[in-house]
Amino acid sequence: MTLFEAACSVREKAYAPYSNFKVGAALRAASGRIHTGCNVENVAYPEGTCAEAGAIAAMCAAGDREITELVVVADSPTPVPPCGGCRQKIAEFAGPDVEVTMMALDGSAQTLRVADLLPGAFGAAHMETG
Ligand code: THU
Repeated sequence: MTLFEAACSVREKAYAPYSNFKVGAALRAASGRIHTGCNVENVAYPEGTCAEAGAIAAMCAAGDREITELVVVADSPTPVPPCGGCRQKIAEFAGPDVEVTMMALDGSAQTLRVADLLPGAFGAAHMETG
């Protein structure tokens, strides 16, 4: 199964009654395993979670810690980009050269490296004291 197929499949399980915007994310971990997630909204809107966050949680729960490739898909006129918060979450587990592919259901795609999605990312080195 491709990451696009996995992302499309999990997208159908999204819980998005408020935005009606279903998103699926599928990532490959360094182990080779695929982990997936969908957005899960909440009537208290800020409590909703993104598809990417779900895929990352599934990856950690399965014991993996390193993303080697990630695909995000939604029914969007153009490939759907991860939100700012998800860019930081992805950067926690993916190196700067890891490719994130944003896709629409028709298969149109745009691929960006993590370093280009989140230039100047806050990282552990910033917490080193003088
Ligand atoms: N959403 C995601 O799941 N991932 C993204 O990259 C963009 C936005 C979700 C959050 C919310 O449930 C819905 O899309 C509309 O913002």
